Amino acid sequence: MKTLSDFNLKNKTVLLRTDLNSDVVNNKLLPSERIKKSVKTILELKKKKAKVVILAHQGRPKESDFISLKQHAKLLNKYVKVKFVKNIIGKKAEKEIKNLKSGEILLLENIRFLKDEFNPGKNKIIKKLIPLLDFYVNDAFSICHRKQTSITSFPKYLPHCAGRLLEQEVKALKKIKIKNCLYILGGAKPEDNIKLLKGNKVLACGLFGQLCTIAKGKNFGAQNRYLKNKLYLIKKLKKKLKNVLTPVDFAVKVNKKRKELLLKEFPSKYEIFDIGKKTIKEYIAEIKKAKAIYMKGPAGFCADKKFCKGTKAILNAITKHKRFSLIGGGHLNDAIKTNKNKFNHISLSGGALLRYIAGEKLPGLEVLK
Ligand code: 3PG
Repeated sequence: MKTLSDFNLKNKTVLLRTDLNSDVVNNKLLPSERIKKSVKTILELKKKKAKVVILAHQGRPKESDFISLKQHAKLLNKYVKVKFVKNIIGKKAEKEIKNLKSGEILLLENIRFLKDEFNPGKNKIIKKLIPLLDFYVNDAFSICHRKQTSITSFPKYLPHCAGRLLEQEVKALKKIKIKNCLYILGGAKPEDNIKLLKGNKVLACGLFGQLCTIAKGKNFGAQNRYLKNKLYLIKKLKKKLKNVLTPVDFAVKVNKKRKELLLKEFPSKYEIFDIGKKTIKEYIAEIKKAKAIYMKGPAGFCADKKFCKGTKAILNAITKHKRFSLIGGGHLNDAIKTNKNKFNHISLSGGALLRYIAGEKLPGLEVLK
């Protein structure tokens, strides 16, 4: 895989696919490690005097975090001057791209606003943008498991290479060989986690923990919108729960406060936001027994401190007992505020990392080779 060191990009118009996808609460984007880290490659391209056009996404269609990248541009501007254009393949974007001077940076609108992002091939996005571009850089390892236009189509039409973050991630993962590893699987993308239910012991938490508990026959009563959208997975999950430990208690939100309920106290009219203290204790006992740990996604809703208790306790236990640790997922990454260097590798990726560990080939990496 070629890297930025292999090319002279002076005066070239470079399309940089990066991952800015971060937490959004009530339409407000929260500052994130992904955004902060993405600056590394942007600055290098600026120094190389390239004309940089950034493509990125936020959320998925129909989900509440599916918003414009205007706020992302604002956050990026804390580190490097970036112009934002609320357009991707129209006249406005074309004009801005053509007007770029060496060392200038332009962020286009959320690429997932265009349906063609999900239909890779020689589509409208490719037809409109390719004539304006000279080079493609993929710096988004975390999206390399997706066959999407901005990941797999551009490198077919443009000379290309890996950005620094992608390069770093691939290097670190090559070093990591996890055998008999304890998997702690949380986060809000349970469909990804199912891929890892192949025999390793699993501690289920987050939305995934709730789904596994439902698959074991429990009725929670109140269910949030995200959970309702994932209920189709229950049938599949039922067959794969042999090595999966599920929470024995949960924290719910009552009048904006945290309240813990035992499993037997459900169904409840209150929504779940975290695992409870009994579960935390049980899970820590498992962590003590493990030799290596892979944790993906937070155990609760970490954008709200009250519901980050489970995640923090688990992360503390992993560092305290000095287990070999690989941490994955943008949201979990954001939850780790201190002691970052105590983990063996902190990845900015969730689903992509998981598939990589499960031994799958990632289309976005294959096309860069
Ligand atoms: C992530 O958050 O893991 C990446 O940004 C990919 O997002 P996706 O799962 O919506 O494709």
